[in-house]
Amino acid sequence: MIDAPDALAYFQRMTARLDSRLQTDLRALFGLMRGELAASALRRRTAEFAPYLGAGKLLRARLALRVGAANGVAPRVRRASAAAVEMIHAASLLHDDVIDGGLLRRGMPTFWKNFSTSGAILLGDLLLFKAMHLVRATGRMDLVCAFIELAGVVCEAEAEQELIRRQRPATWLQALSTARRKTGALFACAALSAGRTAAERAALCEAGYLLGTAYQVADDILDGSQNEAQAGKTLGTDRVRGKATAAVRSPAFARRHVEKLCRQSAAQLVRYPRLAAAWQAYLSVEFLPVIRAQLDA
Ligand code: IPE
Ligand code: MG
Ligand code: MG
Repeated sequence: MIDAPDALAYFQRMTARLDSRLQTDLRALFGLMRGELAASALRRRTAEFAPYLGAGKLLRARLALRVGAANGVAPRVRRASAAAVEMIHAASLLHDDVIDGGLLRRGMPTFWKNFSTSGAILLGDLLLFKAMHLVRATGRMDLVCAFIELAGVVCEAEAEQELIRRQRPATWLQALSTARRKTGALFACAALSAGRTAAERAALCEAGYLLGTAYQVADDILDGSQNEAQAGKTLGTDRVRGKATAAVRSPAFARRHVEKLCRQSAAQLVRYPRLAAAWQAYLSVEFLPVIRAQLDA
């Protein structure tokens, strides 16, 4: 048993080492994402389009990289997984801004505003399949299968929200189910890529689902706030478009639920001390500061 100051020093050493590794991983991740664009018919426009890849907070990629590195996942695998997750996320946002008519994203005019709705749909489709190409290149068939399955869950939830649930009064439970599937599934992809055994991946998958649900609940609350400059994206579209979201409950209720989901996500990993420590570090250094700022906006 190590005493508290020793534990603190160990934690600081571990996070410092992880932080410098994270910077190297993030540089490699940008290289991979640009490389996929540059290896396509759009190569002449790589510089113009690259800002739409990874200009955000990189929360999903940081999850895959931080937890993957702490768990000894090979750099090649964790970077490809993280880049693929970010590309799927970028694709979903290109499409989402067309669907919602969003004008601002990550502090920039949305892709469709600059380059047409058709361009946004087509680049989104390209990114989805380039992401799968990156995962396939790892040679890890288990990851290929998981990414196909979970990206499908995201698309299904988005389609359901648009084509089945719109303009109908939503319950809190329906909103949670949508949040889990449309956003939780991609956090699950990021999380499970950090596992080294099937059992670890199963636990990480559920932890990711819970964390992504928390993220979307906070995002639904952010959509009802007024602070577009701070959010860097168009707000208020959920209500205008009649989307069923977690805004059916008060911000205070949602905040308590977000904190509970975060605790539940960490609880999935108690049997894996290395994963649990890395998850906790990710929560406190990366995830919670972003989420709390969104809830306070
Ligand atoms: C979209 O949800 C989530 C996706 C799966 C793309 P939102 O419509 O709430 O996303 P934002 O608020 O525009 O970022
Ligand atoms: Mg939207
Ligand atoms: Mg939103």
